[in-house]
Amino acid sequence: MSTNSPVSFAVTERKKVTTLNLRQKKERREPITMLTAYDYSTALAMDRAGVDAILVGDSLGMVVLGYETTLPVTMEDMLHHCRAVARGAKAAFLIGDMPFMSYQVSVEEAVRNAGRFLQQGGMDAVKLEGGRERLLGIRAIVEAGIPVMGHLGLTPQSVHQLGGFRSQGRTASAAIRLIQDALLLQGAGCFSLVLESIPSKLAALISERLSIPTIGIGAGSGCDGQVLVTPDLLGIFDRFTPRFVKKYADLYTEMVKAFGAYIADVQAGAFPAAEHLIEMPDDEWDELTRRLVDEGMLAESTG
Ligand code: KIV
Repeated sequence: MSTNSPVSFAVTERKKVTTLNLRQKKERREPITMLTAYDYSTALAMDRAGVDAILVGDSLGMVVLGYETTLPVTMEDMLHHCRAVARGAKAAFLIGDMPFMSYQVSVEEAVRNAGRFLQQGGMDAVKLEGGRERLLGIRAIVEAGIPVMGHLGLTPQSVHQLGGFRSQGRTASAAIRLIQDALLLQGAGCFSLVLESIPSKLAALISERLSIPTIGIGAGSGCDGQVLVTPDLLGIFDRFTPRFVKKYADLYTEMVKAFGAYIADVQAGAFPAAEHLIEMPDDEWDELTRRLVDEGMLAESTG
């Protein structure tokens, strides 16, 4: 790849990223990069671009499957998309998001479902939402040898309990509870925590207190890393864009333009053009017409 190419890709083979590498990045104060992916091609592109970790988020439900919330997403939905991502991304650390009701009912179910992400989904770790109420489940999953990423702050699976997709930890009492939860999740064995939609000062304070890396979304630059929902970053999700998202492209507009151009081309007979045609050798065509005439399937040409 030429060095003056406008976009530089880490196309050389990268070594597989591990939980240890993520921890070392925090210690070296090197920002960790994480993005969500749900399909093979996107995972391949972000792996080549050099992202540290890929989350197959249950945001899948909203940005890919078109639901209003993440609640309808099932284990089967998640595993299907995890497998596609795992086929595309070979170096990034892969995290599968445990869907609503896959880890809340019992510790046994939580461990069994977490195991399916590694055995059947090709993931390296799982993520689940919640604080102190999740400790037993987290400990049991970690004891089964499965790395767990926690998720605090705005936890979308609790959208109805939280009264909507609202930022969290904005009062002193709520902030203290979040700090306590973060320490408890670290104590239960989480290798990392997502902090979503909380005040940046609070996220920085939690990040300093923890020895495990924090990955922020709407939580400011004091976290040890950042994550964005990829369709938000690419400008594909048309419904709404949270204030904390930076759009790096406007692919929704580009897609509408491209689809419109295709429709216009087909309607005008401009596509397919000569360069898109599959040719047949003349002698084979002559042979075909001769045989079709012999079999009475084509009238003999008088011309
Ligand atoms: O589901 C998801 O994409 C997430 C991120 C917002 C962290 O949980």
